[in-house]
Amino acid sequence: MLNIVVLVSGGGTNLQALLDAERAGQIPGGKITCVIASRPDAYALTRAENAGVPTRVLARREYPDVHAYSRAMVQALQEEKADLVIYAGFMTILDESVCRAFANKMMNVHPALIPSFCGKGYYGLHVHEAALKKGVKVSGATVHFVTEECDGGPIILQKAVAVEEGDTPETLQRRIMEQAEWKILPRAAALFCAGRLRVEDGIVHILEENGRDGKEKQNGTF
Ligand code: GAR
Repeated sequence: MLNIVVLVSGGGTNLQALLDAERAGQIPGGKITCVIASRPDAYALTRAENAGVPTRVLARREYPDVHAYSRAMVQALQEEKADLVIYAGFMTILDESVCRAFANKMMNVHPALIPSFCGKGYYGLHVHEAALKKGVKVSGATVHFVTEECDGGPIILQKAVAVEEGDTPETLQRRIMEQAEWKILPRAAALFCAGRLRVEDGIVHILEENGRDGKEKQNGTF
């Protein structure tokens, strides 16, 4: 059983989706063993407590810079024996030392179809404001591995969601959460815990349940 540590900063609806999926037996190879918040007032902490999951607060404002904060985070993740780290609405930047310590073991959910509306400054409602300003007719969500490049790591899963006439950033955010984020984040965690994600040259291949991947099958290797 792999230890899953979830990092949060806010309301925690993505954390809730993970907790619900775990309870429903949809992440058979993993257990959410700790939730770490970057803010003491994050409602996600209450969700974790309600589910009986241990919590920690690593308040960003108590550290002088991103490097000191990142060192503390690596230490906390090692103490928790994290096998998989999930950013679920985690809004704090960590430096490359964290990415190196947990390479291909950290995933993030982003509320757009990367490479659209991502990178520095694109977080939370800002992402949906930008999508509506551009007039895109389709947006969605992406789960990707975390690398040093903000929102630039290998893409694990994506799901498209229609933009509707009259959408506000809030209505679009909610539809993308309901139809995409809350589905693909638990699914990505389950695939990871089942050992079904293989990263090769920056591309994620999803192995079949028997450990084979589509590419090998297509090539007739099996
Ligand atoms: C979610 O929409 C998540 O995708 C986004 O913030 C929201 C957090 O909601 N994350 C980012 O923008 C990260 N770049 P939640 O706290 O209810 O899960």
